[in-house]
Amino acid sequence: MELPDYVKARQRSKQVVEKEFYKLDDDLRQIGRGKKYFLKTYGCQMNEHDSENIKAMLEELAFEETDNYKEADLILLNTCSIRENAHNKAFGMLGRLKHVKEFNNPDLIVGLCGCMAQEEGVVNKIMNKYKWVNFVIGTHNLHRLPYVLNDSLQRQRQEIEVFSREGNIIEGIPVKRENAYKAYVNIIYGCDKFCTYCIVPYTRGKQRSRNPKDIVREVEELVRDGYQEVTLLGQNVNAYGKDFDYEYNMANLLEDVSKTGIKRIFFMTSHPWDFTDEMIDVIAKYDNIMPFIHLPVQSGSSRILKLMGRRYTKESYLALFDKIKEKIPRVSVSTDIIVGFPGEKEEDFLETIDLVNHCQYDNAYTFIYSPREKTPAAKLQDQVPEQVKEERLHRLNEVVNKYFLENNKKNIGDIYEVLVEGISEKKNELFGYTETKKLINFKGDEDLIGKIVNVRVTEAKTWSLDGEIVK
Ligand code: SAH
Ligand code: SF4
Ligand code: F3S
Repeated sequence: MELPDYVKARQRSKQVVEKEFYKLDDDLRQIGRGKKYFLKTYGCQMNEHDSENIKAMLEELAFEETDNYKEADLILLNTCSIRENAHNKAFGMLGRLKHVKEFNNPDLIVGLCGCMAQEEGVVNKIMNKYKWVNFVIGTHNLHRLPYVLNDSLQRQRQEIEVFSREGNIIEGIPVKRENAYKAYVNIIYGCDKFCTYCIVPYTRGKQRSRNPKDIVREVEELVRDGYQEVTLLGQNVNAYGKDFDYEYNMANLLEDVSKTGIKRIFFMTSHPWDFTDEMIDVIAKYDNIMPFIHLPVQSGSSRILKLMGRRYTKESYLALFDKIKEKIPRVSVSTDIIVGFPGEKEEDFLETIDLVNHCQYDNAYTFIYSPREKTPAAKLQDQVPEQVKEERLHRLNEVVNKYFLENNKKNIGDIYEVLVEGISEKKNELFGYTETKKLINFKGDEDLIGKIVNVRVTEAKTWSLDGEIVK
C-alpha cells in the first residue's frame, strides 16, 4: 500500500528525468480472458489520452471493452480533480456502482485512477467509506496497472498504490487510439507553475519533457499509419524543453514535428508566460501548424492575476495577444476564464469583461472558481459568495457568446481546409474542424471521412458553422 502525500507532491527536484520502457510479464497476458471492462473518463485531453493507454494495457491482458457498465467484470474510473463538480461526478458514479456490486455482480472489480487518486482527501474517503472499491492507482504509476489489477484479482483486500513523486518518463506504453485520423501525442508531463487555485501541479507532478526524438518518431509512425492530424499535449506546452540540460525548446519541437509532413498540428495548452516570439514565427511560417491558439487568461484584473500567481498582467497579456493576431495569418484564439476567485470585486470582474471586449475570443471556457484541497487560494479569506459567482458567470457568458457568433459571421465566404471526422447525428451531414478549430457541418459523401477537403463557410451559428465543399 502506498498513499498520496501532498508534501512530497509539492516538492520539485533538479534531478534530470530518465526514461524507462513499459514491460509486461507474459504470465499476466491472460488474466482478463473472458472478462469485459468498462472505462469512464473525466477531465482533460491528457486524461483522454491516458485512457487510450489504459484500454490498450487492459486489452493486452485479454480483457474486452464494453460500453455497458452493467455487463462489465472490471470498471475503471479515470478521474479529474480540477473542480468540485468533477469530483461529484466520479463519486456519483461510485454510488451507482456500489449498487451494481451489491445486487447484480458481487465479483465486480472497481478501480479508480486519474487525478483524484493523487488526492489525500479522496483516498482517505475511499479507504473509510468506499471499502468495496477494489483498487486505487495514481497518475505516476499508471503503467503498473496490470500488476495492481492482478493483485486485486488475487486478493480480497483494497489495493492502494499512489506514488506522490513522479518517476521517470515511461515510453512504450501501448495505445488504442479512439480515432483513425487524429491523434494525441504527449510532449510534456506535469506542471511547475503552481497557479494558486490549481491542483494539477500536485496531481501530475514536476514538469518533465519527453525526448524530442521519441516525439518525432511517434508522429512519423502516425503519418505512416495514415493519420492526418496530431495534437501535442501538455499542461503548459510552451515550457517544453526547459528541463533539458541542452538547448531545445517548443519552437524547435514545432519545427521538427512540422517537418514530419503530418498534415495538421495543434498544440495545447499555452501559458501566456512562456509564449516566445520564436514560437509565433514558427507557427506563422509552417502551413501544417494550425493557426489556432488556446491562450488561457483566467482574469482581466492584474491584481487578481497576481493573487492567482499567473506571472503576467492584463497589459502584458494584451500585448502578447495583439502580437499573435498581427503575426499569424487567420489565427483564432480561445481562452479559459475563472470568475469569483477569492477577493474578486465587481471592478476586477469588469476588467475581465473589458479584456474580453478587446480580445473578442473565438471560443472561451468559463468557470466558477472552485476551492481545491490544500491549494493556497483555498485558504484565502474573502471567498466570493456562490450567488455572486453565478451571476458573474452568467454575465460573462453573454459577452463571450456574442463574440463567438460575431466572429463566425465574419468567416462567411471564407474557405477552410477541414479534416472530415464523421457524420453528425442531428443533420445527417459530414462534420469536421477548420484549421482554426471551428466545428463545421456540410453535405458530402461518406467516403470523405478521414480526408481533408476545402469547405466554404455559408452560415454562422454561435457554436458552429455550416458550409459547402468546394473543389
Ligand atoms: N494548464 C492549463 C489549464 C489546465 S486546467 C493552463 O494553465 O492554461 C483548465 C482550466 O480549468 C484552467 O485554465 C482554469 O481556467 C480552470 N481551473 C483550474 N483550476 C480551477 C479551479 N480551482 N476552479 C475553477 N476553475 C479552475
Ligand atoms: Fe494549473 Fe497553472 Fe499549471 Fe495550468 S499552468 S496546470 S492552471 S498550475
Ligand atoms: Fe483534470 Fe487532471 Fe486534467 S485534474 S483537467 S484530469 S490534469
